[in-house]
Amino acid sequence: MKIWTIANQKGGVGKTTTTVTLAGLLAEQQQRVLIIDTDPHGSLTSYFSFNPDTVEESVYSLFQKKIQDRRAPLASMLCRTGVDGLDLLPASTSLVSLDRQASMNQGMGLVIKDTLEQYRNHYDYVLIDCPPTLGILMVNALAACKKLIIPVQTEYLAIKGLERILNTLTMIVNSGKHNLDYLIVPTMFDRRTRASMESLNHLREQHSEKLWSEHIPIDTKFREASSKRKPASCLYPDARGVMAYRRLLDWLLSGDTDLPFSQVEIAKAG
Ligand SMILES: Nc1ncnc2c1ncn2[C@@H]1O[C@H](COP(=O)(O)OP(=O)(O)OP(=O)(O)O)[C@@H](O)[C@H]1O
Ligand SMILES: [Mg+2]
Repeated sequence: MKIWTIANQKGGVGKTTTTVTLAGLLAEQQQRVLIIDTDPHGSLTSYFSFNPDTVEESVYSLFQKKIQDRRAPLASMLCRTGVDGLDLLPASTSLVSLDRQASMNQGMGLVIKDTLEQYRNHYDYVLIDCPPTLGILMVNALAACKKLIIPVQTEYLAIKGLERILNTLTMIVNSGKHNLDYLIVPTMFDRRTRASMESLNHLREQHSEKLWSEHIPIDTKFREASSKRKPASCLYPDARGVMAYRRLLDWLLSGDTDLPFSQVEIAKAG
């Protein structure tokens, strides 16, 4: 089971869109995929027509059961997305109170990681969509994953959010508890605007080693897909934006191996 977290400490940069689209593409490749909504706003949950105000079991239940020292049967919390092979662990709006509760209860940083550990044979991929703010949910999502995907909108203000999440990452890595790899993904790129070009150049100058070499273009099909409650890859497989996410997935999968590079080449050749 591979766990990827999608996060940035800035709102509206394409985190949920990246989660849904990559998950749709993985499911299309017959992978068993779980997506987890850790945002109290529940955009990912709403995307698939579930209501974060009324959903009975959610990510929140995992934390409640941890506080009450009970095992949390994940299966009863899952929602069907209508896409074969793609399950959703929804968010509920009660997640807003979690940071306060976490400050009163010890050991809340690994709740998601420990839960997924018990289900490692059930899914090939788990994608965790994060809220735009640092708190116990983002800490859980970062602690659970091996790979962090950071969507960065190609506009001036978005660079600040990137700096914040990279500082958070440094804190986590320096605490010595966890090491994880990350990839910066430029999103909503509009080549007609100066802001897009300049921020992409800035990313190339400052973060070349960890930057995906391409970008996700602005594409109205993503908004249309969200209004139809399906991943864009299911509805518009040839849309420019979907094709770009397909190339991103290829990139992620090509680096997604525990073998050293030379051994991968040998394994492929064999
Ligand atoms: N490449 C794109 N082209 C055009 N629109 C896009 C693109 N990516 C995302 N969007 C749209 O931009 C809006 C914000 O995207 P999204 O919800 O994925 O961002 P987010 O980072 O998850 O936001 P939040 O921080 O509020 O959770 C949505 O309406 C989405 O449909
Ligand atoms: Mg979101």
